[in-house]
Order: sequence, then structure tokens, then C-alpha cells
Amino acid sequence: PETGCLSIIVLGASGDLAKKKTFPALFNLYRQGFLQPDEVHIFGYARSKISDEELRNRIRGYLLSDKNASPEHSEGVSKFLQFIKYVSGSYDTEEGFQLLDKEISEHEILKKSQEGSARRLFYFALPPSVYPSVCRMIKRCCMNRSDLGGWTRIVVEKPFGKDLHSSEQLSSHIGELFDEPQIYRIDHYLGKELVQNLLVLRFANRFFLPLWNRDNIDNVQIVFREDFGTEGRGGYFDEYGIIRDIIQNHLLQVLCLVAMEKPVSLKPEHIRDEKVKVLQSVLPIKDEEVVLGQYEGYRDDPTVPDHSNTPTFATVILRIHNERWEGVPFILKAGKALNSRKAEIRVQFKDVPGDIFKCQKQGRNEFVIRLQPSEAIYMKLTVKQPGLEMSTVQSELDLSYKQRYQGVTIPEAYERLILDTIRGDQQHFVRRDELKAAWEIFTPLLHGIDNGEFKPISYQPGSRGPVEADELLAKAGYVQTHGYIWVPPSL
Ligand code: BG6
Repeated sequence: PETGCLSIIVLGASGDLAKKKTFPALFNLYRQGFLQPDEVHIFGYARSKISDEELRNRIRGYLLSDKNASPEHSEGVSKFLQFIKYVSGSYDTEEGFQLLDKEISEHEILKKSQEGSARRLFYFALPPSVYPSVCRMIKRCCMNRSDLGGWTRIVVEKPFGKDLHSSEQLSSHIGELFDEPQIYRIDHYLGKELVQNLLVLRFANRFFLPLWNRDNIDNVQIVFREDFGTEGRGGYFDEYGIIRDIIQNHLLQVLCLVAMEKPVSLKPEHIRDEKVKVLQSVLPIKDEEVVLGQYEGYRDDPTVPDHSNTPTFATVILRIHNERWEGVPFILKAGKALNSRKAEIRVQFKDVPGDIFKCQKQGRNEFVIRLQPSEAIYMKLTVKQPGLEMSTVQSELDLSYKQRYQGVTIPEAYERLILDTIRGDQQHFVRRDELKAAWEIFTPLLHGIDNGEFKPISYQPGSRGPVEADELLAKAGYVQTHGYIWVPPSL
């Protein structure tokens, strides 16, 4: 691994994302020894004029966890907070960034006694509207100039625009200033344990290789459900809606990993090449293969316009036009304020040809990857009902992580993604052409919604969403197994 001074600069340090995700992830990396105190310094940058101590106090509460209240933990928190220095300044003038550069350089000089290069990682916990100006300022004032080598990288997160055009505009603004290997576009679903497992499952197991195609698979569902609404984020959410918030990025990234061909190697560029190909093979979305919903009460939020047409629920069928997937619907479904909270991939196989158990059979084979909560991989299959009678029953082969990997803590998505940015591994980040292809798929539908051509159907909060979505699922070929539910094993 590289050595030398590492400066991590969190821009937007006093905002929600920084407090809830970025700093806790950095703390966890520090705690596990990935950020060495003799190399690393963390800078917070934002507009508010506060002191180092004030920023530390704001972050502290998010680092003291309920699960770990030991004195060692709180001592660790205090030590970590000492590495954080605050610099205040605006996002569009040189003054603040010059000051930031001075602070970073001083820290680099201080650490100069050690061998190695200077590394500067800028984490944008900022609204994208300021991305272009912040990129300009970094480029002008804050690039690494060490003659011992090193790098400057930026980490950015969605929303990357609102449609193909605005996203491309943003990409070219950033692209004029930074090269692709310097840009890390986060999609935090790519940092989830079971999403990262997809590549291994699919390509390291003989089981799946011959089955993973249109001859055997009837349909694929990728589902995200939340059992709460847009509380506190109505203003942001209403601008974007569930397709831009969840489907166009998180679920589509998962789809890529489920559907792509085997990459030439594990090199990030080879993997991302295959993902782009899948996206480019997706056919235009048909109007009749979309169901939109909006939960009752969504517009009661004072930050949401009274006549908002924004969907909080959507089921969209994507069709991949290639040799492997022709005819297999990929059903992407996401909703807020539903009856449960979970994310999963459900691969449903076709019926057994010439089935001699037909009259007894209770369901199809399904391969389910439960992303969260209760991470698990299970295979639904039919077995003989244990006992004297010769009857069949639906059961499962179950790899539940909590049970199988007791004592293993699954890292937070942000934790591992930030570590990747330090190590320079772009595999789990979205490449520019990938982003473009993703927007190409959804832009016509999104424009239709924005123009009011599509209207969301109202649904009860705490329900399954509009019944029309289940009807669409059935029409696409999904067969529900009645009388069977998978229960995560308890310890
Ligand atoms: C974010 C969305 O990207 O993902 C939120 O903006 C959503 O609306 C969140 O709640 C879900 O993330 P996770 O990791 O809890 O599934």
C-alpha cells in the first residue's frame, strides 16, 4: 500500500450526509487501523463560521454508538476527533480554498520527515449545484503539488443531474477539470456486502453458470421497500422522486451485476465495461410496463407542493435485448411508506418441464439474495414433506449471514467505499459512460412524469403499494408462492 501523508477533506462538513455517513465511516476506518494517525489528517470545510471544537461536538454524538458504550470506545472517539480541523469558507471564492490549501500544506510539511507522497482526497458532502464551482476552486487552489508524487481525488454522490442532458452537463463540467481516474462517483449500494457478493456468486459457482439465462429464468425482481415516508426530506425528494432517488441508480446498478456477462478479468475497467454493455442493451421502457404510486399524505408535508405529481413508488419493467436475456422481464420496484423495509433480488425460475408433481407443487424455484436487513442468500425449492405421506412442500437452502458468520461485523457501505477511494480502486464506482447509459434508459419516462403525462396512483401508507403493481407483476409472469414465507433464522 501507498504511504505518506493523506489529507481527507470533507466539504460540507456540517451537513447531514457528513455527520451521518462520512465522519462515522472515517471513524470506523480509523478504529480498525486503516487510517494511521501518523499519516492522516482530516479537514472539515463548510460555510458556517464555527471553531474546530464546535465541529467536533456536532459530530461526536453520531460516533458514540448505543451498541458500544465502553470507555475505550469513547476514548477512541475523542482521539479521532482530535484529527479533525475545521476551515470555513464559501464554495465559490478562492479565499476559503486558499486557506484550506495552506492548512493542508502545513500538515503535509509537518509530516514531511516521513518518506512518501502527498495524497489529497476531497469528499463532496455537498449539493450538486455547487459541484462545478467547488471543482474549479480545488483545481485552482488545492491540488497536490508534492514533488514526491501522490494524487488528488474527488468523491461525489448523486443526484448527478435530473436527466440525461443535465447529467451530461455536470459530467463535462467536472470532466474538464479532473480525469476519470480522479473521480469517484459513489452509489452506496455498490458498497453493500451482498451486492459485492454478486460477482463471486455468479462467476465462482458452477451451479449458476448454466442456469443463468432465458432458458431457465422466467423473471427477475429487484426490490427496494421502505416502511417510512420522506420525513424531513420532502423538499429534496419532491424534486427527484423515487425513480431518480432509488431506481435509476441503486437498483439499476444491482441489475447490471445480475445481468452482465463474465468480465475478462477482475480489473475495474473490465467489470465496468460489462456493466455498460448491459445498460446499452436495455430497450425503451413501454408505458404499459410502468406503475407509479404516491402515498396518501405525502403532500401534507409543508415542503411538498399541494399538486405534486412526484411518485414515491414505482414498478418498472426493463427488457434486455441480448442473447442471454431476450424475453426475461427485469422488474424494478421501489417504494416509500410501504408495509416493510427490505431490499432483495428475486430470481424466479421457469416451471419444471413435464412436471409429475404438478398437482401438488406449491411454487417455483427461486433464488433470493436478501441485501438487507438480515442479509441472506436462499434458494426456494420443493422437497418431500418429511413424514409418512408422499407429499411435497416448499422449503429452502438458506445461507443466513448472522447465523453462518457469527461474530463478523458487516462493514457499512460508506466505510468500504471510502477505503477504496484511498486505495485507488474504482471497481465499485460509477464510470461516466455508465452514468450516461443509465440516464438514457429513464429520461423519456422521467420527462413524461415531469410533464404530467403519467400520474401516480394513490396508495395507503403501510400497504404493499398500488394493486396495479401486483397485477403488472403477474402479467410479467411472476408467480407468487402462496402459503410460504421465509423467516430469517433467529439466534
Ligand atoms: C438513498 C436515498 O440514496 O438511499 C434514500 O436517497 C434512501 O431515499 C436510501 O432512504 C436507502 O439506503 P439504504 O442503505 O438504507 O438502503
